[in-house]
Amino acid sequence: MSKIFKTPPTKKVEHEQHILEKLDDDILKVNQIRHDFTSNSTHSLDDELKIDSDEADKNWHIASEYYKNIDTKAFRQYELACDRVKSFYEEQHEKQTVAYNLQARINFKTKTRDRMTIWQGLEKLNKLLDESDPDTELSQIDHALQTAEAIRRDGKPRWFQLVGLIHDLGKLLYFFDSKGQWDVVGDTFPVGCKFSKRIIFPESFKKNPDYVNPLYKSKYGIYSKHCGLDKVMLSWGHDEYMYHIAKKNSNLPPEALAMIRYHSFYPWHQELAYTYLMDDHDKEMLKAVKAFNKYDLYSKIDQQYNIEELKPYYLELINEFFPNEIIDF
Ligand SMILES: [Fe+2]
Ligand SMILES: [Fe+2]
Repeated sequence: MSKIFKTPPTKKVEHEQHILEKLDDDILKVNQIRHDFTSNSTHSLDDELKIDSDEADKNWHIASEYYKNIDTKAFRQYELACDRVKSFYEEQHEKQTVAYNLQARINFKTKTRDRMTIWQGLEKLNKLLDESDPDTELSQIDHALQTAEAIRRDGKPRWFQLVGLIHDLGKLLYFFDSKGQWDVVGDTFPVGCKFSKRIIFPESFKKNPDYVNPLYKSKYGIYSKHCGLDKVMLSWGHDEYMYHIAKKNSNLPPEALAMIRYHSFYPWHQELAYTYLMDDHDKEMLKAVKAFNKYDLYSKIDQQYNIEELKPYYLELINEFFPNEIIDF
């Protein structure tokens, strides 16, 4: 395992912050590659999910034509199992236990880490990651704006655009009280039931104490058949953290909250694992998450935008869905 993971969590040295951003990029690229490879095998699902495109006001979840001719080979220059990503998942899969997840939720509910506006949160995330990684080509705010602008360009609803802007804001967790990178970024998965073989690097779960726990190792574990993903505890990270903040502080629709909560749940939205935990509501949410995923993955090839020019538009958008300006993070 790489040396950086042995750094005590309280000492997030500059070096390690630098690695967070690089690691996050690597994870994204691996997911792009997996997406490209598996997109053929999920055609039937995609077809099933398509609805009548004449229903203009309901077709926000249909993927854009814009990315159809994308040169996916450009994303294949990265080795699927690059060492850094593998080491990362080995640590994450060992440490994301039910016990850890319960504690993370207690911490979330009992602490206020910072109080600020959504835009200040974006700026803070940008500044922290930029300072630690001056070489990065794209900052967090660039990715937020590119995702949001791609969604806006396709004429999608305003709430969908806002999801593009804030979906990664939960990465602030890294600068608050996370224990490392493994509880901020990376693919997410349910804890408290059998780990699916469709999760990336599934072998590494053997070191997770829950792997042999009689309560957690069965197919349904602490859940029941088709109980609905609302009742399922997903591994703690920036998605889950931001979902709880958005759920508490905004009037965003369920589809938006699902996009935020599940955007790193690749085993589900890409590999179609855990369908036996889904209820009917989740089928609708899956359409939403899949629609969002393409913008998250591929908008990085787009132009970089002028932050100051776009700021007034997005401030108004934030105000529309977050009634209180100051948010408890
Ligand atoms: Fe993310
Ligand atoms: Fe993202």
